[in-house]
Amino acid sequence: MGQLFSSTAEGAKPPAPAPEGAEPPAPAPEGAEPPAPAPEGAEPPAPAPEGAEPPAPAPEGAEPPEAPANVVAALHAAVAARTNGALARAGPDVDAVLAAMAAVDGAAIGVTTAAALDAAMAEAYDLPPSPVWYVPVVERADVTVGAFVLAPGATIPLHDHPGMTVLSRVVAGRVTVASYDVVEKGPGGAISARRAGVKTLAAGETSALFADVANLHEIVAGPDGAVVLDVISPPYTDETRKCRYYHAVDAAADAGDCVALAAYDDDAPEFTCHTAEYRGLDPGHF
Ligand SMILES: [Fe+2]
Repeated sequence: MGQLFSSTAEGAKPPAPAPEGAEPPAPAPEGAEPPAPAPEGAEPPAPAPEGAEPPAPAPEGAEPPEAPANVVAALHAAVAARTNGALARAGPDVDAVLAAMAAVDGAAIGVTTAAALDAAMAEAYDLPPSPVWYVPVVERADVTVGAFVLAPGATIPLHDHPGMTVLSRVVAGRVTVASYDVVEKGPGGAISARRAGVKTLAAGETSALFADVANLHEIVAGPDGAVVLDVISPPYTDETRKCRYYHAVDAAADAGDCVALAAYDDDAPEFTCHTAEYRGLDPGHF
């Protein structure tokens, strides 16, 4: 059986001091029994046997015990080593980044649930809860690492990732992802897209999208919400790689697996995503 721990609930008050003038605790009544002595014959703790060796000192030059690994810095190192299009398609480089992502849990990035993040941001900045938060972990010109934190049932509407790779790993909770391939881009944000599948991903499961594979998706959180860690390469920019949100235009125009979509001029209506402060492990500098 494992060791049992006791803990004080966060925010629990310490015991109140005795009020002034309060009576001190009553002394033991006369005749009260003192604590029983050890029974006769009880063995005292055994002394170290004579001649026993003291623990050997660490040899000179020995490495000190290793500190726990900083898995966020390790992930940053993994993505920083793979720029210049190395993540543009599936292969060993993508696999190496997914492996580094697998070591990163909610505690490492300082986000375990949407409710906990709501509470932390309310306490620190008096911010209202958000159905979707973005928590930036690493922001570089060539790649970003961040976490999307979704409240129970929250949706990130259908959107694209022009010319980009996005590697995702569910850190907590569950999401359902509906993906689409771009078949043809028309004028004014019109797109013909092919349904590429709907997947539910539980904690620990991953997905990957590329410029020409599953580039559009809609994400819906499960009943307990979700925390999703993303590696985005290259990142969005306001000019050349702007994120656009889409809606279906005319079911009559759909053919087979293909649907006709149109981009919203601005953000999707009724979609809110706020950026929260990152409070996880230091990602380091590479
Ligand atoms: Fe996305």
